[in-house]
Amino acid sequence: MAIERIVDPAQEDNQGEEEQKIENVLRPKDFKNYIGQERIKKNLELAIEASKKRDEPLDHVLLYGPPGLGKTTLASIIANEMGAQIRVTSGPAIDRAADLASILTNLGDGDVLFIDEIHRLNRSVEEVLYSAMEDYAIDIMLGKGPSARSLRLDVPKFTLIGATTRTGALAAPLRDRFGMLHRLEFYSPEEIARIVERSSKILGSDVKGDAAKMLSTRSRLTPRIANRLLKRVRDYADVNGDGIIDTNTTNKALEMLEIDEIGLDPADRMLLKSIIENHSGGPVGLNTIAALLGDEVSTVEDFYEPYLMQVGFIERTPRGRKITPKAYSHLKIKVDNRDTPQEKLL
Ligand code: ADE
Repeated sequence: MAIERIVDPAQEDNQGEEEQKIENVLRPKDFKNYIGQERIKKNLELAIEASKKRDEPLDHVLLYGPPGLGKTTLASIIANEMGAQIRVTSGPAIDRAADLASILTNLGDGDVLFIDEIHRLNRSVEEVLYSAMEDYAIDIMLGKGPSARSLRLDVPKFTLIGATTRTGALAAPLRDRFGMLHRLEFYSPEEIARIVERSSKILGSDVKGDAAKMLSTRSRLTPRIANRLLKRVRDYADVNGDGIIDTNTTNKALEMLEIDEIGLDPADRMLLKSIIENHSGGPVGLNTIAALLGDEVSTVEDFYEPYLMQVGFIERTPRGRKITPKAYSHLKIKVDNRDTPQEKLL
C-alpha cells in the first residue's frame, strides 16, 4: 500500500488490536444476523442442512470477490451452523507442505479449515491440499534421494473454505476441487444502512436514520468500510457534539476524512485524475496505472478497480482501462472528445 486509506477494505491485517476486537464484536455469528448476500446464504443454508442430515462433512467452499464483503465472516458462520470448530489461516502463512500436514492432522472430523488468500499458497503446499480435499489423505515423503519413500496418511473429514479476491489467480486444479463456488457481490445501499444500524446498536451509539443512509452511500457498498466509517463518525460526534450521529455530524466527519458523496477518497480521485491528465482518460494499461500510483498491479486490480467499475467510472476495453464520462462529470472535469493525439495538438 502506498498510502494508508481509511476506505481500503483490505486493511484488516494492519489494523490495531482494538479495531480488530471491535470488528469481531460486530461480526454476525449466524445467518439470521447476516445482512445481504441473500443468494449465497440460501445456497449455503441448504447445503449445510443436507450435509447435517446425511451426517457428512460439507463440500469444500470457495468464496471470492473484493475484500471487506464478508468472506471471513461467512466462513465462521458456516462453521458455527455446522456445529464445527474452525481453524483460520492464510495462503502466505503456510510456508511448507509439512506446515499444512500438521494443520490437517490436528483437525477433528467435520472441522472447517479456512484459508484466506488461498491464491497465494505455494505449489508444493497446493499439491498436498489436492489429495487432502479429494481423498482426505496426504502423501508424505520420508527421506531424500533413491531411498525416499512416500507414506499415505489419513486426515480427518474436514471442509476447506478458501477465500480469494479473484478466481483467475487460482490454479485450475485447485478451483475444480471446490464443490461450491460463490462470488460475493457489493451490497445494496439499503443493506449497508441496515448493517450500520445493527452495528451502532451493538456499539451503543445513537444513529439517526438519515445518517445511516448517508454512510451507506459513502462506504463503497462494503460492510467493513461502513463499520470503520461509523466508528470515525462516532468519535467525531463524541468529541464535537453530544454523541448523536445525525447527518450534520456525519457530513462533517466525512468531510474531514476527505471522503466524497460516493465514497471516493483522495487516492481514488488521484487515480482518475492522473489517467485523465496524463493519458487523456485512457485507454491505459494496468501497469501504467500502478506506476502512476506507485502501487502494485494487484492492488489496483483488487482494491481500486472493483468499486470504480461498480459505480461506472472505469471501463475495461481490449486496449486497457478507460475513464468514463460519468467520472469526468463527478470530478467536474470537461470531457475531451478529441480522439487522437494529433487532434489534441490542434
Ligand atoms: N457486519 C459486517 N458485515 C455484516 C453483514 N453482512 N451483516 C451484518 N453485520 C455485518
